[in-house]
Amino acid sequence: MADTEFTPRVFSGIQPSGGLTLGNYLGAMKRFVDMQEAGGFQTIYCMVDLHAITVWQNPSDLKKNTRELCAGFIAAGIDPEKSILFNQSQVPEHAQLGWLFNCVARMGWMGRMTQWKDKAGKNAENASLGLFAYPALMAADILVYHATHVPVGEDQKQHLELTRDIAAKFNHDFGVEFFPIAEPVIEGAATRVMSLKDGTKKMSKSDPADASRINMTDDADAISKKIRKAKTDPDPLPDSLKELDARPEARNLINIYAALAEIEPQAVLDQHQGALFGHFKMALSDLAVAKLAPISTEMARLMQDQAEIDHILGRGAERAREIAAPILAQAYDIVGMVRS
Ligand code: TRP
Repeated sequence: MADTEFTPRVFSGIQPSGGLTLGNYLGAMKRFVDMQEAGGFQTIYCMVDLHAITVWQNPSDLKKNTRELCAGFIAAGIDPEKSILFNQSQVPEHAQLGWLFNCVARMGWMGRMTQWKDKAGKNAENASLGLFAYPALMAADILVYHATHVPVGEDQKQHLELTRDIAAKFNHDFGVEFFPIAEPVIEGAATRVMSLKDGTKKMSKSDPADASRINMTDDADAISKKIRKAKTDPDPLPDSLKELDARPEARNLINIYAALAEIEPQAVLDQHQGALFGHFKMALSDLAVAKLAPISTEMARLMQDQAEIDHILGRGAERAREIAAPILAQAYDIVGMVRS
């Protein structure tokens, strides 16, 4: 069968399960903005509320977190005109294609997902069926748009491989070239943000210590305080990255500086080698406040206007459905569903 040409299209999703950190900004949102601005791609970004409820979510928190995530996307630079920005549950085609994929994916494939094994743990009997099926719905999110590129973190690589397996099996079983084999776009090490208190642990919204993270909602004061109090060591900055291998906290601050300034980590050392952390932290704090405080200010402003956020999500869902509905209809037809 002739190779099918697919429109270059980016899809990615973030769960509205509350608490956005600098890690979400640098590791996901900022990269999403870059892809939006790069041209050459249609970009589609989704608040995956159906994924969030695979574990318990308080209903009013879920609504608030979905709107806050939308505000975060926009404040970070996602333009709801340039990109399609919406929440998953307003586009029923995700769940519909997800069902077809539940019938394509094999129990054995799903049971091998490390995230399932980690999250269900020893108590798999009591995990939701949705948590087990989670990666098939994720495949549907991507493939219902025939997306070709998927920016995700390292932890989602296995789910992307499963998405490719599902697309290939569907194509093979029905003798079609219908779904693309989507490419993961994995984040580089420099955008992996670690805890400000332990450079070997990922910065996390669930760390009990708020000082371990910068939240996207933190104001200028909080940002600069947290950076000044971040764990470091007494040595000056070296001239090569190699010398930071055994200094994870130092390496993390260099990475954060590089990502915010949009330069290479080595270039940060070129500028600051020999400096002590007291000094470097002041430079980092100035930079972080300049880049991040406008985002939290804009988020706070948007959160005052729920009607505006809901309008944006509704409009995004309409645009998403224009792409998803005909693809779902073709998939139903391929599978043998009668449309009358
Ligand atoms: N599983 C992803 C995460 O937790 C979120 C997600 C859901 C996603 N559907 C997606 C990411 C589709 C990329 C594409 O980070």
